[in-house]
Amino acid sequence: MVGEKINKGIAKAIKQMETLSGVMSVSMAVENLMLYAHARGWGTSCMTGPLVAADEIKKILKIPSSWNIAAVVPVGHPGEIPPPTPRRPVQQVITWVDADWQDVKDAVTVKE
Ligand SMILES: Cc1cc2nc3c(=O)[nH]c(=O)nc-3n(C[C@H](O)[C@H](O)[C@H](O)COP(=O)(O)O)c2cc1C
Repeated sequence: MVGEKINKGIAKAIKQMETLSGVMSVSMAVENLMLYAHARGWGTSCMTGPLVAADEIKKILKIPSSWNIAAVVPVGHPGEIPPPTPRRPVQQVITWVDADWQDVKDAVTVKE
């Protein structure tokens, strides 16, 4: 999308937008894949640790070297169904801000 004729600043901004768009798209696709698998009773795990060996993974799976691997998501029949992971209350993990980015947590009521 970036032609030689545009200035470097805009080219850099467009490149960053393209990269972030790619990461966002893949992240949402992975989440949808994991939700669908869960609905089918399959187990999954989103894994980025294996990316330290991305070049080897590309060779084994014959993935073109020009491609970036964002995550490895094994899908399979779960050997066990663990209890759901306890989650912290929403108010502990979300910061609510107003138009001036001031914390307005106390003004927001969340039904858990
Ligand atoms: C971006 C991301 C990368 C992850 N990478 C790994 C990984 O490399 N290896 C692994 O065993 N789990 C990985 N996980 C899974 C997390 O360990 C798991 O989500 C976390 O333990 C919380 O478990 P829960 O999702 O069941 O609450 C990753 C999760 C995310 C969101």
